[in-house]
Amino acid sequence: MIQTISEHIKGKMILAPMLNTTDHVFRKLCRHYGAALTFTEMASSSMIASGSTQAARYAAISRQEHPVGIQLFVDNMARLEEAIEEINPLQPDVIDINAGCPSDKVCSHGAGAALLANLPELQEIIKAVKRYSHAPVSVKVRVADRHSRIPVRDIARAVEDAGASFLTVHARTRYDRYEEPARWEWIAEAVRAVNIPVIGNGDVFTSDDARRMMRETGCHAVMVARGALGTPWIFAGKEDALLDASAVRSILLQLVRELDACYGPIVALPRASKHVAWFTRFFEGAEQLRVDVFRCRSMPALISTVNRYFDTNPARLDPGSEELKAVEDAFHRRILFWAEMDTEDVVG
Ligand SMILES: Cc1cc2nc3c(=O)[nH]c(=O)nc-3n(C[C@H](O)[C@H](O)[C@H](O)COP(=O)(O)O)c2cc1C
Repeated sequence: MIQTISEHIKGKMILAPMLNTTDHVFRKLCRHYGAALTFTEMASSSMIASGSTQAARYAAISRQEHPVGIQLFVDNMARLEEAIEEINPLQPDVIDINAGCPSDKVCSHGAGAALLANLPELQEIIKAVKRYSHAPVSVKVRVADRHSRIPVRDIARAVEDAGASFLTVHARTRYDRYEEPARWEWIAEAVRAVNIPVIGNGDVFTSDDARRMMRETGCHAVMVARGALGTPWIFAGKEDALLDASAVRSILLQLVRELDACYGPIVALPRASKHVAWFTRFFEGAEQLRVDVFRCRSMPALISTVNRYFDTNPARLDPGSEELKAVEDAFHRRILFWAEMDTEDVVG
């Protein structure tokens, strides 16, 4: 179990929690490439307490995959103890509190980024989780709530004072979309304010970005979300080694098959379709493939569609081309197809 991140985590790059994405199968792939720590997708504490199978799936971790953190958004203080009792037997290395999710569905329960305007409540949550579990507690925050104008240093100190073992700062406000560049100076401000390790997060798409973030902010480690989608080898620092179509095909198909084996087609199909879009975005003809794959109604149909595409031996898009620039722009802003409603099904 992690006591301090610097002592126990070998490596400096961490896979971010991502809803409907950082399941056991994708975490395993990122760990294979060197992710030093991974996180589950966020799960509602009240749904875990209620025994929801979906929430249990979000929070599930396997014995082989340490170190791994379970992320919770705390939408019902009264049932937090029950939720943590459900989680304790899984022996997570960290329990992470989500204090950054900007979705109205989450914030309307006083959870996620709503906690940034209510630091005493955030502190209560940290202390309560520490009371109910031996696992270290971390917190993932966004920055200054535009209305409350609480500076990030105050957020960081509140998190430290309540006893959190480390803090992750996603350097955007609750109201910023991905169009707004992450403001790494806020990470540096948090680093200066506290003694606990601070993990920086926001707009790291290459291992060079990661090194630059560490240099410019002094953060202890870097958390990567979009930069790992379709490019999990970012954790090996090899994202610049351009993989050819046949290598991408075999990594992608293995991921797709494991998703199917692990979760069954109803859960696996939408997840696999997104991975197809992410992994193939650097290749010619991927736009039509995305259309075709999102129309598939079964895993065998998806696998045949992917095989038919790779049988054409698609070439990589020219690195300087307008087409690749447009694809990467759409990916950075909306991960190609953003679904705002993704959070709907996790809030009870
Ligand atoms: C598909 C997707 C799902 C996400 N789900 C979560 C989540 O469950 N919990 C969370 O704290 N952040 C979530 N985030 C935010 C990321 O963890 C991260 O803070 C944000 O994307 C900025 O990092 P990046 O610039 O590396 O993408 C999600 C982001 C994406 C793209």
